Amino acid sequence: MSAPNSSYDPVEVTPLHPDEVARMRDEALSAIEAAGDLDELKEVRLAHASDRSPLALANREIGALPPAAKADAGKRVGGARRDVGQALKARQAVLENERDERVLVEERVDVTLPWDRTPRGARHPLTTVAERMTDVFVGMGFEVAEGPEVEAEWFNFDALNFEPDHPARTMQDTFFVENDEGGDSGMVMRTHTSPVQVRALLERELPVYVVAPGKTFRTDELDATHTPVFHQLEGLVVDRGITLAHLRGAIDAFVGAVFGEGLRTRFRASYFPFTEPSAEVDMECFVCRGSSVGNPEAPCRTCASEGWIEIGGCGVVNPRVLRAAGVDPEEYSGWAFGLGIERTLMFAHGVRDMRDMVEGDIRFSSAFGSEI
Ligand code: DAH
Repeated sequence: MSAPNSSYDPVEVTPLHPDEVARMRDEALSAIEAAGDLDELKEVRLAHASDRSPLALANREIGALPPAAKADAGKRVGGARRDVGQALKARQAVLENERDERVLVEERVDVTLPWDRTPRGARHPLTTVAERMTDVFVGMGFEVAEGPEVEAEWFNFDALNFEPDHPARTMQDTFFVENDEGGDSGMVMRTHTSPVQVRALLERELPVYVVAPGKTFRTDELDATHTPVFHQLEGLVVDRGITLAHLRGAIDAFVGAVFGEGLRTRFRASYFPFTEPSAEVDMECFVCRGSSVGNPEAPCRTCASEGWIEIGGCGVVNPRVLRAAGVDPEEYSGWAFGLGIERTLMFAHGVRDMRDMVEGDIRFSSAFGSEI
């Protein structure tokens, strides 16, 4: 009589014993429950749900079972693994939620808070351009001279050989400063930097080689091409044996340094009371270099197709000015120039509207960088 086949009892295979499977499952479930964050849960997943976890190893044992026992063991182990998988998924969702909430709190940005970063300022481009212009002459050995912005009429006009009825003295051009009674104080807001010429000659030993950058004032309305407060760079050389050739050389060096090497300059005869002869200084247009002249196909915005750009006035110092400053014109001679700083900035940097220079909008200055 044949006995039932009991030579292989699955109950005897320890990892597949129902109690053991339940124990492995419970151990996994409590480890999952205990995982406090996503990193810990990752460890738990490795320990209890990877290919090398006890349940996975138990699963491998099933293949060795006789067919009758396979289904039962498979159901138990499969059920346990499913439970572990679901618990992992659920815990993962809970922990991700917790993490997201924590991140939202910890990394919260209050967009309504006031901005607490002080933006870096920028020096006004007129200041930096004036310094660059001045440096060109300092590099040639000139010193920097100064004078007051509220100036005696004598320095601003008389010493510079302006006749008492010269049109520049009239109310149209000059800001006159009243005295306490509202009358004539003899003072004006200087209309140019040329009075510094006389001050420099009175204050310094000869020979004099100076430049004087500074503010000047005229009763102009503010518009795209005029401003009542503007800036000039005055230059003065008084020495023995000084000629116009030295002036030409100094102007050429300035144009080369600020606008580019090799640009031609020209002097056009003009009139200023304090120089004789006098000239307007033009430089070749650094954009078209004259190619736009008479060429409507290729107009130049920079020089308005003139080919030349006016940058200032100059001349040989009038002997009357030297005499007014106590210098003997028989022994000494000299020349002077006055360059527009606004004009230099406008041409060198393509600034089209003077109002941009005076409105004080930091965005205008910042565009020139934070040069120190
Ligand atoms: N002071 C003149 C002006 O404001 C400019 C000028 C012309 C200055 C000739 C000079 C010079 O020193 O020699 O229009």
